[in-house]
Amino acid sequence: MKFSIKSGNPEKQHSACVVVGVFESRKLTEAAQAMDKVANGYISGILRSGDMEGKAGSALVLHNVPDTLCERVLLVGLGKEQELGDKGYFDAVRATFKALHETGAGDAALFLTEVPVKRHDTAWKVSQLVIMAAESIYRFDRLKSKAEGTKPHLRKVMLGAISRTELAATEEALQQGLAIAEGMNLVKDLGNLAPNICTPAYLAEQAVAMARAHKLKATILGQKDMEKLGMGSLLAVARGSRQPAQLIALEYWGRAKKEKPIVLVGKGVTFDTGGISLKPAAEMDEMKYDMCGAASVLGTIAAIVRMRLPVNVVGIIPTTENMPGGNATKPGDVVTSMSGQTIEILNTDAEGRLILCDALTYAERYEPETVIDIATLTGACVIALGHVASGLLSNDDELAEELLYASRQAADRAWRLPLWDDYQEQLKSNFADMANIGGRAGGTITAACFLSRFTKKYRWAHLDIAGTAWKSGKEKGATGRPVPLLTQFLIGRALKKNP
Ligand code: BES
Ligand code: MN
Ligand code: ZN
Repeated sequence: MKFSIKSGNPEKQHSACVVVGVFESRKLTEAAQAMDKVANGYISGILRSGDMEGKAGSALVLHNVPDTLCERVLLVGLGKEQELGDKGYFDAVRATFKALHETGAGDAALFLTEVPVKRHDTAWKVSQLVIMAAESIYRFDRLKSKAEGTKPHLRKVMLGAISRTELAATEEALQQGLAIAEGMNLVKDLGNLAPNICTPAYLAEQAVAMARAHKLKATILGQKDMEKLGMGSLLAVARGSRQPAQLIALEYWGRAKKEKPIVLVGKGVTFDTGGISLKPAAEMDEMKYDMCGAASVLGTIAAIVRMRLPVNVVGIIPTTENMPGGNATKPGDVVTSMSGQTIEILNTDAEGRLILCDALTYAERYEPETVIDIATLTGACVIALGHVASGLLSNDDELAEELLYASRQAADRAWRLPLWDDYQEQLKSNFADMANIGGRAGGTITAACFLSRFTKKYRWAHLDIAGTAWKSGKEKGATGRPVPLLTQFLIGRALKKNP
């Protein structure tokens, strides 16, 4: 889909479909009024006849509206004018693309971004719209032998009535939206891929391919390399699997190399059976999404590459399967992590933290300015925050605030949980420096507490995306989150530290 931004008026468009908004109850937006005027009251007449109230998310396609230059007019409900906020806008934009895809329109001119939305400027409306447009056409049919259904006709989208003074800012927002959408699509593709295809080696190949295409530096560590580094914790998880574990590092240097990088560490368990502490069978297929943290690191790097963002970012991905087997780690096994700390593995299903801890120690060699890890880490996070917000835990209040701010800007929700020392006690082990589980109470926090023991040397934040990385049920699929949050955070960093 191609996007353009223009200052043009709705009534002047020779478009296959002009999209204008209608507030509750039946109040026309400025653009809708302009269309209604050339059509001599045809649109307001239809509203009077009761065909549309203007409820947020409703839509009505009109064909051959008299005296207009376009083939169709799509009326989209925006809800109450005074109340139009994020949700109303999202509903309206989603309804717009749904309705457009149901028509044969190959191009459309949208007049929605000039409508005031509480707390947001035009640039925000543009980038969110672009992301939702991409969402509306995303399909994962690579593994089907025949294509299903019809492809959407919509090829060109024009965003109109943008004031001339805002053209530059909105053009930048458009590019940011496209970059975020591209990153999210990569995350969705990797997440949705079957776990017999998306293996640790496959993820490593993707990183190498990205490095080749965009002149990044990729380093892949294999089993031997990790043994030499003493990554006993990561390797303990890999023992039950036939697929060799890998540690991927992907470096993007968008500014002077002497400036310390932001390191993103992503959990890359390409399938989590639980290991010897085997998971129940129901919905176990969804554990193919246990590499979505890793995917979001690649997706975020794809987005910043596309924007050529002036930031230094290193992605680190520890990746393995978690399988049972004759050689697999057993509950009670004690291993030594790269940091030298020993871990009693009481539950082999708490494997995410075991691979992350060695990756977090490995991150030290980049002398990071900040480290953010992203992981589908705990079922407890889904219980605490549902599928709405990602969990955020940090050893630095300023960094936590910065991430929460980016999360609000990007409409990619996150919520902070405490990381008080009081919780550390739950990780006590009688036989090693720590246990890898802390009991059922506060499971998300004790998991982060475990990680915090490996992140003492830098500013660090942890995003638990167990509830937000994918959807279950009929709409099963990866969401692409938290690429919007992470990319927005990096955009903020690029602006802040510019000379
Ligand atoms: N990958 C899972 C976490 C998970 C579970 C994410 C369900 C999304 C949905 C993780 O490796 C895991 O199994 N965690 C355990 C930890 C427990 C054994 C302390 C969990 O949450 O049950
Ligand atoms: Mn697990
Ligand atoms: Zn897991």
